[in-house]
Amino acid sequence: VIAYEWRGRFSNDEVNALHAEGFGHPVLADDWRAQVLRHSLGWVCAREGSQFVGFVNVAWDGGVHAFVLDTMVAAVGRRRGVGTRLVAIAVDNARAAGCEWLHVDFTDDLGPFYVTSCGFRPAPAGLIALRP
Ligand SMILES: CC(C)(COP(=O)(O)OP(=O)(O)OC[C@H]1O[C@@H](n2cnc3c(N)ncnc32)[C@H](O)[C@@H]1OP(=O)(O)O)[C@@H](O)C(=O)NCCC(=O)NCCS
Repeated sequence: VIAYEWRGRFSNDEVNALHAEGFGHPVLADDWRAQVLRHSLGWVCAREGSQFVGFVNVAWDGGVHAFVLDTMVAAVGRRRGVGTRLVAIAVDNARAAGCEWLHVDFTDDLGPFYVTSCGFRPAPAGLIALRP
């Protein structure tokens, strides 16, 4: 059974491990707890027993816009609907908090996930890489 929790407890090590696996880089020592507590509307944690299997961060402008960042599911737990459920819980909680828009940006290959499965409407978006 997978348990999902909005603003659930997590350790920095758990999210750093998931991020390294999901985005293919060495394990970093980022302070996710401080970051999300200070800047996010919330986040969703997924656990299967004692195993941390999923996370999504919901950043916020302090008003009606929330932003999905860092949707990630442990490789062993993928393609079982965990990512879709994480995003659905983010949608419900952003709406409950009074947000009017939930944004995400993603590469074309993730269209089947964000558009078809999670229900985002495709919209033009822009991005500037601020560091080379
Ligand atoms: C993207 C990610 C979060 C999806 O999590 P997941 O739990 O496997 O997703 P779901 O099981 O809810 O997938 C639902 C549907 O979305 C689509 N989908 C899922 N992962 C996909 C992927 N990597 N590429 C394209 N489509 C995908 C499929 O249509 C899938 O349905 P199916 O399994 O019946 O074919 C996960 O693959 C991941 O953590 N990837 C690495 C990190 C990453 O790239 N995150 C997104 C950053 S923007």
